[in-house]
Parts: sequence; C-alpha cells; structure tokens
Amino acid sequence: MDKDIIIPNHIGIIMDGNGRWAQERGQIRTMGHKKAVSTLKDLCIHMADIGVKYVSLYAFSTENFKRDIKEVDFLMKLFINTFNKEFDFIKKRHVKVIFSGRRDPLPEGVLKAMDALVDETKNNDKLVLNICLNYGSHAEIVDMTKKVCSLYKSGKIDLNDIDEEFIQRNLYNDLPPLDFVIRTSGEYRLSNFMMYQASYAEFYFPKIYFPDFTVEEFDKAILEFNKRNRRFGGVK
Ligand code: IPE
Ligand code: IPE
Ligand code: MG
Repeated sequence: MDKDIIIPNHIGIIMDGNGRWAQERGQIRTMGHKKAVSTLKDLCIHMADIGVKYVSLYAFSTENFKRDIKEVDFLMKLFINTFNKEFDFIKKRHVKVIFSGRRDPLPEGVLKAMDALVDETKNNDKLVLNICLNYGSHAEIVDMTKKVCSLYKSGKIDLNDIDEEFIQRNLYNDLPPLDFVIRTSGEYRLSNFMMYQASYAEFYFPKIYFPDFTVEEFDKAILEFNKRNRRFGGVK
C-alpha cells in the first residue's frame, strides 16, 4: 500500500452476509460462517502487516441468540475451534486479543477458549483485536452504568469524576474511538454495534458478503476512507 495512505487507527468490521453467501451457493447457512473464518484470517494478517493498531470485529450480537438453536450451537463450536486452533497465526504476529460483550449466557467451552486466547496474547503489542462476542451497545451501556453506580455508591468516585474519558474507560474495554466502520453485505445499519465508539466514525457499506471480503476489497475500503473529509464538528 502507498506510503501516503492514512491507515485508520481503529477499524470496526461488521462481518455480515455469511448466511446469504452460503444460500446463494445452494449450501446451508453455517457453511458461510466456516468460510468467514478463513477470510478473517487473511484480513487479520493483512491488517497487522499494514500497521492497523485497533480492530473491533462483530462476531456475535446479543440479539443473535434469537437464531435457530442449531445455528447458534454451530457458531459456539466454531468459536471454540477458531480460538483454539485457527488463531495460532495471531500469536506469531504479535496480535493481542481482547473481548467485548457479556459472558452470560456463553457456554463454558467458549469462555475457556476466550480466556486462553486473551492470556496467551496479553503481552503482544502489535495489533489489538477486540472481538465483540455476545456484544450489544445497549447491554454495554447498561453494564457500564451499573459499574459506575456501584463505584459511586461505595464512595470510590465523586460525581465530578464522571466525564467522557471516564465513561470510555468504564466500557467493556478502554478503546480509542472508531475511525472507520465497514459493514459487508449491503445492509446500512449498525445492528447494536459500538454506538458510543462510532460517534465520529466514517462508514463504508460494500455490497459484498463477508466470506468474499478479500484483502483486495479491504484495500479498496482504505482508499475510500482516504477520500473522506473528517471535520469532527469543525470547519475544514
Ligand atoms: C453474519 O452473517 C454472522 C453473524 C451474525 C454471526 P449472517 O449470519 O448474519 O448472514 P446473513 O446476513 O443472514 O446473510
Ligand atoms: C450483525 O448482523 C451482527 C454480526 C455481524 C455479528 P445481523 O445479521 O445479526 O444483523 P441484522 O439482524 O441484519 O440487523
Ligand atoms: Mg446478517
């Protein structure tokens, strides 16, 4: 990639369209999720190589538990397998994995695989990969509010301690704002993804299902980001 290209500091990816990708090939929806893992591996390697600092991946929303039990079970097993076996490259490339979302009601096996991956990568300092799993912005704001209220109740903080930085620190993870949010599949919505963090993000909605979102497509997205004029409420 060109040296003059600006790489967004924090990129959010809403990995959507796996089911439709499979259905259009006459396959069952879960085959799309499987293919998405290999697409994701290539993307992560690329993002680490070009120097992206933070990536937030939407892997499973709080609302995705509404899906057919068979699909949910498949996804939970896929998470275990991916974190235990497919993510070896992550360690080699100094990627640090963190998770955002509610632990409850994730199955024990998923939690174990998540905790192991976090532990194994905690000293890595290249790309921070924030995996949003059983994540919802509404749940995050509820959980943050509970945390802040209990700090206040126990006298650990004063009302004047609460400012925007404090709120950011008390979300699931203390992450910089999102600069760029990519949602594949041609849907134009956030679906409860990082609303607080995305307040000044640029958005990009390629009409490509996630399993087909190659490194080349990602580079096109970065070029598009470079055409945007970010003003943050000011004049430029
Ligand atoms: C995104 O793909 C993956 C998850 C939500 C886990 P979908 O499964 O939503 O695929 P479509 O949008 O139905 O095609
Ligand atoms: C958003 O996709 C969640 C993830 C990509 C993990 P959905 O497919 O669940 O979103 P809706 O239902 O189309 O809004
Ligand atoms: Mg979808």
